[in-house]
Amino acid sequence: VTTLATTNKDPIGVAVVGAGYWGPNLVRNFQNNSGFQLHWLCDLDVERATRVVGRYSSVRPTADLGEVLADDRVHAVAVATPAGTHLEVALAALEAGKHVLVEKPLAASYAEGRRLVEEADRRGLTLMCDHTFCYTPVVTRLRELLHSGEVGELQYIDSVRINLGLVQRDIDVVWDLAPHDLSILDYVLPPNVRPVSVAAVGTDPIGAGRSCIAYLTLALSNGAIAHVHVNWLSPIKVRTVIIGGSKRTVVWDDVNPMLRLAIFDRGVDVATKDELGDQERRELLISYRSGDMVAPALGEREALAAMVEEFGRAIRTGTPPLTDGRAGLRVLGILEAASRSLAQGGATVPLTDMA
Ligand SMILES: NC(=O)c1ccc[n+]([C@@H]2O[C@H](COP(=O)([O-])OP(=O)(O)OC[C@H]3O[C@@H](n4cnc5c(N)ncnc54)[C@H](O)[C@@H]3O)[C@@H](O)[C@H]2O)c1
Repeated sequence: VTTLATTNKDPIGVAVVGAGYWGPNLVRNFQNNSGFQLHWLCDLDVERATRVVGRYSSVRPTADLGEVLADDRVHAVAVATPAGTHLEVALAALEAGKHVLVEKPLAASYAEGRRLVEEADRRGLTLMCDHTFCYTPVVTRLRELLHSGEVGELQYIDSVRINLGLVQRDIDVVWDLAPHDLSILDYVLPPNVRPVSVAAVGTDPIGAGRSCIAYLTLALSNGAIAHVHVNWLSPIKVRTVIIGGSKRTVVWDDVNPMLRLAIFDRGVDVATKDELGDQERRELLISYRSGDMVAPALGEREALAAMVEEFGRAIRTGTPPLTDGRAGLRVLGILEAASRSLAQGGATVPLTDMA
């Protein structure tokens, strides 16, 4: 079983499993990070892996995961295979003593995700879930704004992710797109605020056999509300998150590079005029704030580069990564509850048993 001394400054030996659409992005980022040395690219389709690494690379392509896991130089495995195979591949890697990075979603179900978290805990290994958006400069700033109290008390979050999307064969629009919104929500919410229930309605107007449009409403523990709108059938692409607080309102428009993030000192304030306890004469005093809008400067770093860096930091220090297995599990918990709600026509499903 591989162990890695925390003081070890040598590069962390790593293997990537899955050379499809996303795997090559991990390959590139591990190769660009001097804290890692990529040894293997594994894919059932070895031709594909060979094409990705090129003919003159020291990275070895293989179709045999066993060969990768038997290599003592490999301390960590990154899994970029379809979600239905995450449990099998990631569990084998953990059992071989490797630290593991899993693409989102962590697994195909909450129960599977929990097995991975428990196995990593038992072995003292790093388990990280690639919630890529959490490593973007915008989401990093959103988290700071909410955690520092700068936006005041959180009142609402409205997240829209709609476009003409690929209608997936095995999963509905909630499992396809909402993991992004839910992982962002999980990451930016202040530590004392958690989702407590979810209600979801969806529709399938084209007869695809699964929801192509869905609306999720989450109740948060501080009384705030979060709404997620995901849709495969919209002719226009909208990627907007609005976060309303008692002091500031933040608008993130991801398809507008000129003004990706705007912080508004605009909103509605309410004061109550209480005439010496006379309930009849108490009235609401509503006032409108119309202060400045600030567009903060944001870094340009590629999210996956920051994600890979965080994986290395977590392995070397033995501390949980920002998006650890538990974060992946919390997202799975909400997705499963949303599926239950969809099946019950939008019933409110409590989020119990969350990681
Ligand atoms: N973080 C992101 O923003 C992001 C974006 C896209 C995809 N993803 C995730 O990446 C993962 C892969 O998605 P994709 O679009 O690249 O899929 P894909 O179908 O394009 O590629 C998957 C590859 O895995 C290989 N494979 C399947 N089972 C395997 C196994 N048991 N062992 C080895 N290889 C195996 C297949 O041959 C294929 O080449 C999914 O979990 C997906 O959700 C994440």
